[in-house]
This record gives sequence, structure tokens and C-alpha cells, in this order.
Amino acid sequence: MTTNSEHRMNARTPVFPSKTTDMGTTIFTVMSALATEKGAVNLGQGFPDFACDPRLLDLVNDAMREGLNQYPPMTGVAPLREAVAAKIEALYGRRYDPVSEITVTAGATQAILTAILAIVHPGDEVIVLEPCYDSYVPNIELAGGVVVRVPLTPGSFRPDFDRIAAAITPKTRAILINSPHNPSGMVWTREEMLRLQEILDPTNILLISDEVYEHMVYAPNRHWSAAQFEGLAARAFIVSSFGKTYHVTGWKIGTVAAPASLSAEFRKIHQFNVFTVNTPMQHGLARYMADPSPYLDLPAFYQRKRDLFRQGLAQTKFRLLPGEGTYFQCVDISGLSVPEKNLGEAEFCKWLTTEVGVAAIPLSAFYGQGFDQQVIRFCFAKKDETLQLALQRLSRL
Ligand SMILES: Cc1ncc(COP(=O)(O)O)c(C=O)c1O
Repeated sequence: MTTNSEHRMNARTPVFPSKTTDMGTTIFTVMSALATEKGAVNLGQGFPDFACDPRLLDLVNDAMREGLNQYPPMTGVAPLREAVAAKIEALYGRRYDPVSEITVTAGATQAILTAILAIVHPGDEVIVLEPCYDSYVPNIELAGGVVVRVPLTPGSFRPDFDRIAAAITPKTRAILINSPHNPSGMVWTREEMLRLQEILDPTNILLISDEVYEHMVYAPNRHWSAAQFEGLAARAFIVSSFGKTYHVTGWKIGTVAAPASLSAEFRKIHQFNVFTVNTPMQHGLARYMADPSPYLDLPAFYQRKRDLFRQGLAQTKFRLLPGEGTYFQCVDISGLSVPEKNLGEAEFCKWLTTEVGVAAIPLSAFYGQGFDQQVIRFCFAKKDETLQLALQRLSRL
């Protein structure tokens, strides 16, 4: 008997149709949990195991103590938008208006979702180049878009422009690119950016250029931003992340640079999504950016780690794939002498974590249909001693 009482004998949570396909727990979470449980060296998920610059912490702390703790403007605090515009101009030669063309976001993940929600209508096609970062596909699906998967060339992971051009239809709303590329470490060349520009020139296709690893590119390679190409910049949301650049992945702060008309649409969604991003960190980052050396020195910092890790792996039976950029190194496991190499990438990674004590990520995790090519990804954004311990364990295989 139920009347006006708080109690309901048969209260139940309503069942409703899920808005997403069943994605389960991501492999990153699974591998990190397994690494912790087994005490393995975690070269799986991409985050540094070393501290950020204490000066950056002081600057954020100063901002908090100065009372900069209330809502900032929806688009981000002016000093940070100005610092970002100045940096893009200095590095890539394009002036974005900090008032109408730069927006501060809660990391690149929110930036990408927001850009997709802002531009993709139900039924619109969006091209992604696989393997790709795991949020792209669910983001497109959430917006009601149709995911069009174009593989990067297996082995080299270079863009295949014939396949990209063939994937374009009158329904194509956007293409997502990512250079330097997670997971492969491949960096687009100037010629490749020009080729994309040429393909997109006659179309109305928008570009989301995920450049979160822009400062992790190793000589003789260099980063080519979409900002450097008139025809790309005019149609692009360019996404960056402070988390990657300043070793603070947990802060979740990024930016989007886009022409004013695109930024206006972006901000309509941003406004009712996160609305604003935390104030003291924005001020701290703006002050920290006055000195460009932390990001200008980053390639040398990571190149040394990459070389240390690659030299160690070269002594093992893992076959090194190119490492042009990012803090990831992919390896081919087909030459290992252990029978577990034939388990499939995901099972191999679980075995590697459990039995060898080193966590890695299977490349198949970055493909919608789980393509297995006996390649796994390690993250080398780690202390030298962490890398050395991992190498010692891997050398047994
Ligand atoms: C290619 C790529 N894009 C976006 C992100 C997300 O960046 P953020 O932590 O700023 O959301 C990552 C993080 O690993 C990434 O690898």
C-alpha cells in the first residue's frame, strides 16, 4: 500500500535505450589496473611518472592566493588566450584573435567532443584515420554522425590520400587528423599537409586537427600545424593540450584555435557543456607561458628518453617501428621467441603485464574493428630508472 509516503515497495530504476554502443571498460583502464595489481612497470597509459616544473605549481598557487578563484569568462581568461595566440603566431605564423578565435577547454578531450557536437548533424559523415585516439568514434556517434574509417598505411602509419579522397561523399562534414600521431608516433610531413589541403580545397569539409603532441617531435622531423596552411586553417579547429606539454595530464586544460565563425559555433556548445575551465590554473599557465623555453626544450627532453628506450629495445627481439614524435614507441612482437606472441595483441599485453611485469597497450585498441598486426605501444614519458627497469624485464623475451 503506497500513498503519500517516501516508501515504495516496488520502486525501480527506469530502463532506457543506451545512447552509445557497448564500449565496455577501455583497455587503458584495464591495463593500468592490471599493472597496479601485478606491480608491473606501467608503460601503458600515456602519462609521465615524474613531476612538473615546481615554478608552474608556484604560479598556480600564487593565482589561488591572489583570490583568482571565481568563474572566469566563458571563453577562458584573457591573459591565457593572449599567450596562446602569441605562441601560435610565433611558432606557426598565423595570428588568431584571442577574443574571438581562441577558447580554453577542459583538455583536448572536451575540445574534440565540443567541436564534433558543434558541427555534426545526425547522418553527417566524419572521416577518422585509424588507428586513432579512442574518444573520436564515440564522440561522432553521440552526435548522431556516421563514422567513416580510413586506415593509415599498416607498418608506416602514413596517410593514404587515395583512400581519404575515395571516402569523401556529399555527406562528409569533417575529417579528424592527429599529428604527431597517437599511437604510432608518426608525424605528418609538409607535403602530406599540402596534399590534404589540396583534397579539401574544393569541398566544405571541416577539419579537426588534434595537435596535442605538437612539442614532441624529433629531428629531422618537425611539426606542421594546420595553422600554417591557409586552406586548412580556414576550415580547422586546432586542438592543443597543456597536460601533454607541461607534464600535468591530470589538470585537463587545453585550447581550441579556430576562425571566428567556427569558434562562435564551438562556444555555443562549450557554454552549456563545461561553461568555464578552472580559473587559477589558467592564470598560472598564462604566466608560465611568458617563458617559451619549457615547450621549446621539450623535444630535446623527450628525444633523450626516446633514444634511451629505443637503444635498449634494439638489444631485444622487439622490432622497433619509427618514432618520429609523441611519447609513444610502437614495437612489432612477431620476432619474439615466446609462444605468447601469437595470443593476439590484447592477450599478449595482459600476459606481458602479468608474467613479465611491463604494461603496454595493444594497437588493436585504436581500431574500431580490432585489427591485429602484432604491434604494441609503450609510453616512454617515464623516469630513466623506470625505463631501465622495463628494459631489463623486456630483454628476457
Ligand atoms: C591524440 C590525443 N588526443 C587527445 C588526448 C586528450 O588530451 P587531454 O588529456 O588534454 O584531454 C590525448 C590523450 O592521451 C591524445 O593522445
